[in-house]
Amino acid sequence: MKRLGILISGRGSNMVAILNEIRRGAIDAQPALVVSDRAAAPGLQKAHAFAVPTLVVAPEPGESRVDYDLRLDRALREYGVELICLAGFMRILSPQFIERWSGRVLNIHPALLPSFPGLHPQRQALQAGVKISGCTVHFVDASVDGGAILLQAAVPVLETDDETQLAARILEQEHRIYPLAVQMVASGRARYVEGKAIIEPQGSTQPPRSVFVPPA
Ligand code: GRF
Repeated sequence: MKRLGILISGRGSNMVAILNEIRRGAIDAQPALVVSDRAAAPGLQKAHAFAVPTLVVAPEPGESRVDYDLRLDRALREYGVELICLAGFMRILSPQFIERWSGRVLNIHPALLPSFPGLHPQRQALQAGVKISGCTVHFVDASVDGGAILLQAAVPVLETDDETQLAARILEQEHRIYPLAVQMVASGRARYVEGKAIIEPQGSTQPPRSVFVPPA
């Protein structure tokens, strides 16, 4: 059973999706720790409801990224974390941290990477006029939203969509594919080798690696 650390900054709905699937027995992992960089993150209360230990690791004034990440790393190791899920964690991790945790950090991004990395991906998608967007779970490397892709789900972008509507449609798929990707890694079916995601061929009961959700 892999010990999971989940890093959040806000509402924590992806964290809840993962914790629900762990509770259901669908992920071979146990939640070891939830860390937030913000004491006011609503996700912290939700983690308490699952009886998962939580920590606030707030940046100190003038603290460098490397020093912050050292404190984060210490906390994660103290709780025996083996696999990290970034779930709306709004800090960029230092190359030193990523190096130390290489192949053991996952992230979800609300766009079909490599399109629309960085901030406000749903807004970027609407501005670009794409007709399909979605979400991506990937291994984290030192680039922003650039690591090897594990799973993606696509959704239509409707003429009438505003940012909130598109974000909600994408979020529904995030909650579906993030737990699936965590299980792929926790179970050893997916591995990170030299910057690539190596995924064992799927048996008939395995979920597909990409999903398109057609317009209703
Ligand atoms: C999600 O859209 C996720 O893809 C992005 O930040 C948002 C976090 O939402 N990285 P939540 O905190 O999981 O509800």
